[in-house]
Amino acid sequence: MDHRAATPSLLHIDAGASPAGESVSRRLTALFADRWRRDCGSAGHRYRYRDLAAEPVPLVTADYVRLGHRVERRGTVPVEQVAGLLRNAADRREWQLTRPLVAEVLAADVLLLGVPMYNLTVPAALLAWIDRISFPGALLDPGTGASRLRDKRIVVVCARGGGYGPGAPREGLDFQVPYLRGYFTDRGVPAERLHFVTRELTRAWDVPAMAPLRPRAAASATAARQSVTELAGRLAARQRDAARHAV
Ligand SMILES: Cc1cc2nc3c(=O)[nH]c(=O)nc-3n(C[C@H](O)[C@H](O)[C@H](O)COP(=O)(O)O)c2cc1C
Repeated sequence: MDHRAATPSLLHIDAGASPAGESVSRRLTALFADRWRRDCGSAGHRYRYRDLAAEPVPLVTADYVRLGHRVERRGTVPVEQVAGLLRNAADRREWQLTRPLVAEVLAADVLLLGVPMYNLTVPAALLAWIDRISFPGALLDPGTGASRLRDKRIVVVCARGGGYGPGAPREGLDFQVPYLRGYFTDRGVPAERLHFVTRELTRAWDVPAMAPLRPRAAASATAARQSVTELAGRLAARQRDAARHAV
């Protein structure tokens, strides 16, 4: 039986600066979350939402790095035992900012990220969160050294103003999807548990020079909505099955 509770759990995180009504990535993650919650049905669900724009995660500091190094020198320390290594108020502050974020990730079965492209990569707000959850050893099983992310589903919903597909002028300049794929792969998430939905050309209706791209932008919008809906239904069905087998 899975070590987590039988009730499926979704951690939903949005990283873009724009509010819900103006954000493509937020609309798509909301679509996923609504569908997933509805389809969990009788299995019930737990749901946690974090808005990295409304509640920014503080950047890591020298105190965070120092604490991380102290922990690293002891091998893989269970996240529950880091509190025993805190020496002063600065350590306590850093751990207070970090521990709840790690706990939220570890408690989730599905991690849903809404990620706009900013300057060819991900928003700084998301990087600040990634730095915190990546505290040394925090995502590892101290007994086996295995990744504690390996059984989770990671759903990354990306939005970007331009196009980065084959033949696009910016082909090869996408440091958003490859970065996140690299990060989660490096953290032990198997490829089949890592899901990306990418909506491109979101600025086609605002930027006059992009007007000829509107048909492609509309097709990308439709495809992204379909992918998000289908994926939410599929993952919820798996959660329902897992919950049934866990009882
Ligand atoms: C600060 C900033 C930087 C951006 N940089 C890029 C970029 O490098 N490439 C791109 O295609 N779009 C870029 N965009 C456009 C956004 O990716 C696009 O508007 C996307 O839809 C934003 O996601 P959202 O709708 O969820 O807010 C940028 C937007 C902002 C605000």
